[in-house]
Amino acid sequence: ALTPVQFADLAESIAREGAALAARRRAEGVEVADRKSSIVDVVTAADREVEELVRRRIAEARPDDGFHGEESGSGTGTSGYTWVVDPIDGTVNYLYGSDVYGVSIGVVRGEPDPTTWEPVAGIVVQPATGTVFRGAVGAGATRDGVPLRVAAPASLAETLVATGFGYTADRRREQVAVLAGLIGEVRDVRRGGAASLDCCAVGAGTVDAYYERGINPWDMAGGAVVAAEAGATVRIWDAGGTRSFLFAAPAVADGLEALVRRLEREVLGG
Ligand code: IPD
Repeated sequence: ALTPVQFADLAESIAREGAALAARRRAEGVEVADRKSSIVDVVTAADREVEELVRRRIAEARPDDGFHGEESGSGTGTSGYTWVVDPIDGTVNYLYGSDVYGVSIGVVRGEPDPTTWEPVAGIVVQPATGTVFRGAVGAGATRDGVPLRVAAPASLAETLVATGFGYTADRRREQVAVLAGLIGEVRDVRRGGAASLDCCAVGAGTVDAYYERGINPWDMAGGAVVAAEAGATVRIWDAGGTRSFLFAAPAVADGLEALVRRLEREVLGG
């Protein structure tokens, strides 16, 4: 088997190739190709094309590994390793010409389930800026080769929290209701539009925490390794039948989790 660093090397070269294709396609002009869970949940031809490229490259290099992608579903392997891929995370930003989108690749051992998998390596490339976030378990996290470390907020009141809303109306209302309680207790709230980059932002210390309900394995597989290897605490729990995800600087992780859980109980009952 490869070491985590070797997996990260391979994932990085594949993610860079995917990022170059995503950037090229956007320069040519992007349109909505399809809608998924709701009218706002869009997919472009580039999402599919980048995932096909990434999937092909993984199969060429690691034919026995499993694959779990946002656009093309799952294939189980025999090696015990699974590649969890979001070809374009932040598709709405991609469509609108924003730089805040990423190609995300995570390598895990086990099923593509963040509550049970064992993380190995994660890469998030931001094509518009060329930034490469990288994490290899046991070897730390970097941004463009420079080691990353989470921030150390002194209190909840000084904690900057990133979040996201998902695509269904009910989920959005719940999340906003929880945030209505949260915003009075923390420094401020940010909504960037790409879960993978929100995870990396925790690792880089450009936010102190990232909280969202109902994100998918591919949204966070790559960025979670970056965050954790930079020292972040990762917590996943069930609230009202939907998973809540929290990536946070250790100094505030317990306090933030307790606050968010209390607010979720108020909003969701139970
Ligand atoms: C979405 C983005 C967004 C988050 C959503 C994700 P996509 O991924 O990461 O920030 O709030 O929950 O589904 O659809 O752009 O790949």
